[in-house]
Amino acid sequence: MDIAHDSITVADAPPTPAEPPLIRREDYTPFAWIVPETRLHFDLGIKRTTVTATLTVRRNAKAAAVQVLRLNGDGLTAKSVMVDGTVSDDWVMEGPDLLLTLQGEDHQVTITTEIAPDQNTTLMGLYASNGMLCTQCEAEGFRRITFFPDRPDVLSTYRVRMEGERSAFPILLCNGNKEATGELEGGRHFAEWFDPWPKPSYLFALVAGDLAAKSGPFTTMSGREVECNIWVRAEDLDRTDHALESLHRSMKWDEDVFGREYDLDLYNIVAVSDFNMGAMENKGLNVFNTKFVLADSDTATDADFDGVEGVIAHEYFHNWSGNRITCRDWFQLSLKEGFTVLRDQLFSQDMRGEAVKRIEDVRILRAAQFPEDAGPLAHPIRPDSYREISNFYTATVYNKGAEVIRMMRSMAGVQAFRKGTDLYFDRHDGEAATCEDFVKAIEDGAGLDLEQFRLWYSQAGTPRIEVSERVDGEELVLSLKQVLPATPGQTEKSAMPIPLRVAVHDCESGALGAEQTIVLTEEHGEFRLPLVGSRPVVSINRGYTAPVVIERLLDRDALLFLAAKDDDSFARYEAMQELAVGALVAEASGEADAAQILAGREAVVEAMQAVIADASLDDSMRSELMMLPSGSYLFEAMATGERKADPGAIHDAREAMKKAIGAGQSSELHAAYERCAKVAFDDPAGVGARKVKTLVLGYLAASDPDKAAELASHQFDSADNMTDRQGALMVLSGLEHPAREERLASFYQRYSGNDLVIDKWFTFQALSLHPNVLAHVEALAGHPDFTMTNPNRVRSLYMALAGNPAAFHEANGAGYRMIADVIIALDPINPQTAARFVPALGRWRRIEPGRAALMKAELERVAAQDNLSRDTFEQVNRSLDG
Ligand code: TRP
Ligand code: ZN
Repeated sequence: MDIAHDSITVADAPPTPAEPPLIRREDYTPFAWIVPETRLHFDLGIKRTTVTATLTVRRNAKAAAVQVLRLNGDGLTAKSVMVDGTVSDDWVMEGPDLLLTLQGEDHQVTITTEIAPDQNTTLMGLYASNGMLCTQCEAEGFRRITFFPDRPDVLSTYRVRMEGERSAFPILLCNGNKEATGELEGGRHFAEWFDPWPKPSYLFALVAGDLAAKSGPFTTMSGREVECNIWVRAEDLDRTDHALESLHRSMKWDEDVFGREYDLDLYNIVAVSDFNMGAMENKGLNVFNTKFVLADSDTATDADFDGVEGVIAHEYFHNWSGNRITCRDWFQLSLKEGFTVLRDQLFSQDMRGEAVKRIEDVRILRAAQFPEDAGPLAHPIRPDSYREISNFYTATVYNKGAEVIRMMRSMAGVQAFRKGTDLYFDRHDGEAATCEDFVKAIEDGAGLDLEQFRLWYSQAGTPRIEVSERVDGEELVLSLKQVLPATPGQTEKSAMPIPLRVAVHDCESGALGAEQTIVLTEEHGEFRLPLVGSRPVVSINRGYTAPVVIERLLDRDALLFLAAKDDDSFARYEAMQELAVGALVAEASGEADAAQILAGREAVVEAMQAVIADASLDDSMRSELMMLPSGSYLFEAMATGERKADPGAIHDAREAMKKAIGAGQSSELHAAYERCAKVAFDDPAGVGARKVKTLVLGYLAASDPDKAAELASHQFDSADNMTDRQGALMVLSGLEHPAREERLASFYQRYSGNDLVIDKWFTFQALSLHPNVLAHVEALAGHPDFTMTNPNRVRSLYMALAGNPAAFHEANGAGYRMIADVIIALDPINPQTAARFVPALGRWRRIEPGRAALMKAELERVAAQDNLSRDTFEQVNRSLDG
């Protein structure tokens, strides 16, 4: 890559168009009008849909009096504007918005617009997918359907009439309850829907198409019967059982654990194959990515099943945390998302086991959120400004947001926390609320003082806790210092309360100390903890109570002790990770000499042996402990202070470690594999057994590729489920072995036509350890099944590539160039999805200088494109400036 040439391109480019405006949290003002009722009439067609909206508007007594009603639009032209039944000329366009001047206090405004769903590739607003019509309105998609005050603090009831051809759209769905249906002339029919619950426009949805339902009623705690439907294409009906069961379990759990009952007679979920994210919680009519609905053992892995259960739960829980109580403005997004993620995490913990689910959630936080917090896109869970709100549906708002609320729960205790959430639901039902409202309700209801805790909402960056300890008589003195790294726009920070569950064990006698919760509130703090022996080992941040990085130097024996013996599962996992991170980062950074590298590997191999042999573990937990830290987590651990990450060195060290484990534990791994291979698919122990098998194949692939190919081929050929097939094929696709092409081809043939499984086929190849991944990806981009218009397909190939450390970070920059090319090609088609590729390149500042220059040059090449979307413009420029 020629950097000099690239900067000439930049200099020659026409001046960048005006920046999209910066929206600030502090500028919030209530809307000047209320819209108690909204009526919508849809004349539906794939090529052309006509929308007539009638808004009942009234001056908002709580806002400044103005005559102008601002109705947001995005690419719309008004065919007609009427006020109180007469055509009005009293309006102008201001950019995309329609400004209407109204003389009185109360009016009816009727506006007709026309849209072209089949031209809509952004998948926001009304669009066509597989011959059906569906909508996505969060965050600002409703304004692509009709002119409306498209902001979450304007709540309205919706009465909707849908009309369309019966043959193309036999099923007509909308929010709320269906009130009427009937036939019209010319093979057309209609349905009328009414949603009695006032809602913001982002929760509006409609679906029209040829769909079939898997149905099953749910009886609520007060004895009402709710009709639940999972709508899919007829050929997918036999893959909907798990979704429906997950919905029923979610409904029951929210009653039992949060006291929340469902509030309509109908709950519809529709699966669509073209979708920007996971799913959407539209009132009474959730729209889902097919990936989070369809599952059977032949086509979905155990992890896919868990994904369906978790996302169904998430969207269902939004009915209270999001819909009944919504957000005042988009800066409050974590109010609904952080809380709902916490609720879905707690649900899945209850369904599948607390220890493993907690480890999985922390792994996601570290892989997705830590890099955000440490990079140019860092923002608090309640951001202060944005240009494009779609860019703030982030791991910070969602996952760190959940961690912040989880800390309140830990500090309050489960019962007091429930009092807090009860008060929140009670106090704010029917409102558009703020994060502050939530904190205040928890404070009042749970009886906590959260004054200082509010800093977690306003300060970005992952706190680092420096730990040191000394013995003083019968006590251990734990001293902690919190370091809050600077983030863009935030250089000075105040100490935050950091709750930590701790225990002091003794690694000589093996005695385990009692657990207690301490809260570090100042920059420095000292805590006296009782000793249970003369060789104390501190178990800290047990259960991962606080989303922080613990910095301490524990010797190998102490870590081996914690990994093998700690009574907190998370602490065991953490000790295994620390052991591996220490060894791998020392090796990758060149800080360890040859002898130290060997000793580091030996320690990990020894710990691994103990984990494989530990009869007290089930295989799910065993496989968590057997997992090496990801390349992305090692990147974070290496790029601290002045030290830069070297992805090539990290990859090499990690592969060498895998090889050492595979060679050092060969017979143990083979024995574990054989034992697990005997566990039947539907045995309750099957999920754990399959995870262990896949891990074993990975280690053997590093140490004995031929043997691994043989085992994986056999596993693939004899598999009776997708988990085993995928586990085998993931490993095979990384090997230079004839079995690779054979099995990839047979997999493709077997599943050709099944989009979700073909996505996997693209992913195996883009995520593999094969040395020619970039060439494979380039070829796959030309495959007849590849398309830039389907986000699942784009992600299956290119998100996988961006998450493949060896290929993406290839030292010549070819991986970076490929991702930048994708951003440029995808931006005009689907800006929301295009912008999601930017953060991978945005990590350039924390990487060694050679790669950093290449990444930066690619970002500059993207920045220099004409007509960038707001989405990509904002992400690229923040990544270059921040
Ligand atoms: N609110 C949705 C959720 O968290 C996600 C969402 C936000 C979304 N914006 C979207 C989904 C745009 C699809 C497209 O469940
Ligand atoms: Zn959500």
